[in-house]
Amino acid sequence: MEHRFFTAYPPPPGTVCEAAGVHPGPLLGRTVAVIGYGTMGRAQALNLRRSGIAVLVGVRDGSAAGPRASAEGLEVRSVAAAVAAADVVMLMLPDTAMAEAWTRDVVPNLRPGAAVGFAHGFAVAFGQIVPEPGRPCFLVAPKAQGDLLQELHVQGRGVPGLLAVTESSPPETWDLAAAYALSVGCLHGGGFVTTFRDECICDQFGEQTVLCGGVIELLKAAYDVMVESGYSPENAYFECVHELKLITDLLHRHGVAGLRSRISGTAAYGGLTRGPRVIDATVRQRLREVLGEIEDGSFARELLAEHGQTARLAAVEAEGPLARAAGTMLARLHPGDTQKETPT
Ligand SMILES: NC(=O)c1ccc[n+]([C@@H]2O[C@H](COP(=O)([O-])OP(=O)(O)OC[C@H]3O[C@@H](n4cnc5c(N)ncnc54)[C@H](OP(=O)(O)O)[C@@H]3O)[C@@H](O)[C@H]2O)c1
Repeated sequence: MEHRFFTAYPPPPGTVCEAAGVHPGPLLGRTVAVIGYGTMGRAQALNLRRSGIAVLVGVRDGSAAGPRASAEGLEVRSVAAAVAAADVVMLMLPDTAMAEAWTRDVVPNLRPGAAVGFAHGFAVAFGQIVPEPGRPCFLVAPKAQGDLLQELHVQGRGVPGLLAVTESSPPETWDLAAAYALSVGCLHGGGFVTTFRDECICDQFGEQTVLCGGVIELLKAAYDVMVESGYSPENAYFECVHELKLITDLLHRHGVAGLRSRISGTAAYGGLTRGPRVIDATVRQRLREVLGEIEDGSFARELLAEHGQTARLAAVEAEGPLARAAGTMLARLHPGDTQKETPT
């Protein structure tokens, strides 16, 4: 049965796929194998099951995640067996493990016509995985962390998603991608058509310069300057870290202008005049340099060679002044908070 969720195939970048125009038809009667049961694999497998899609999970030998998936009621197989049984194979592995798993376990077992899907564009955009021409290959990148994707789906809500299909895929792969996005809860606010490369570059740039790099370094620097200048660690923590959540919530809900109109006049004037001195033209130049390293593939090569350093770098950071202050303050501000499991 033909499904036509888009008016043009391929839909041009910038097309927004609305949930109201999509149904799960292209997935019905088909089995999805979710390979990897980490943060994103777990969320997508549970969301698919909740949407009534046949799903099984593929894990490597000795995986700690396998028993967890079984305990959560999912059928678990080896990666090779899960691939061999599937019509749609979702690769939910660390980006640095994709190439090896693809060559060893996926390619020899992939059924003719089975589709492969991803939650992030890296493996395809930077040549770690090159599906053969004609193989349906799509990207549904949730614009949220995995646990949140799962929590919102339980509540009948969702997140926006980015959709892409490789140029050599059959046109109907777009309908499969849209149905998949709907079924895992990634069309809330729309599914935005892009390419594997653009999704990957934008995602990594945002992580590196703002979300997981720039903001954290700004917080560390501001905290250090205050404490070195004789102000109490508690004052520094409240002003530079704790209140960040309040501000980002306002920004998320009301935008930049709405944020400005909701803070004090002093905060607005100070931010508008001092912010550009901190984030000046030299910072913008370094942002362009970081973007260039992602675009020309040098970050990809470095990641694949050096990702083993991540735990050591994180351990060094965990011994730093801000991380230690956070430990103390969080124990005081959120006593008894433990890691909460997300519902199944
Ligand atoms: N995390 C997020 O919120 C998020 C958000 C958007 C997109 N994504 C994307 O989603 C994908 C999965 O990321 P993730 O964060 O969910 O990864 P993750 O939490 O690190 O989970 C990876 C899973 O893969 C398994 N695994 C690791 N190496 C393997 C190998 N060589 N062969 C087979 N299985 C292996 C791990 O199983 P073991 O139990 O065996 O270690 C684990 O179940 C990535 O493409 C990522 O960019 C993630």
